Amino acid sequence: MNGLLKSRLLPVVLLICTAGTASADPRTDYLLYCRGCHLINGNGVPPDVPSLHDELGRILSVPGGREYLVRVPGVSQNAMTDKELAAVLNWVLAEFNADTLPRDFKPYTREEVAEARSKVLIDPLRYRAALLGK
Ligand code: HEC
Repeated sequence: MNGLLKSRLLPVVLLICTAGTASADPRTDYLLYCRGCHLINGNGVPPDVPSLHDELGRILSVPGGREYLVRVPGVSQNAMTDKELAAVLNWVLAEFNADTLPRDFKPYTREEVAEARSKVLIDPLRYRAALLGK
């Protein structure tokens, strides 16, 4: 292989290698783990898959709501680590819900996510309705 070819190939090989590593940035993790259902822009496919826009801020401000966002099966049951999951949730909230986030909102931590995701929600829709009094 001549030097020119090597210098052109190396960046491509490096890119392919780093693209395959487990931990990515939250946006990439969203695209990998959430987009399949909630779509690239977070709009979902209502009524089957809820939108991730605006309403989450409201849910955060009712008792139990903060935990609920971690406990829904699409969040709690995916393959991400607790740390990655906390980062994706914080990204979704900042990206899609900036207007409705409570003023005193504190980002999710890895420990909080670990605790909440261990409590699997069997019937998320009913739980959500009770939470929001609907
Ligand atoms: C297999 C499809 C699927 C995937 C993948 C998925 N979700 Fe969901 N998500 C749903 C459905 C369906 C609901 C409604 C509750 C239910 O029936 O589980 C929901 C509910 C939610 C809710 C609650 C919204 C509300 O208004 O009550 C949040 C937050 C959420 N998902 C975030 C995520 C995030 C973040 C990811 C990626 C880590 C993700 N979801 C991956 C299908 C999915």
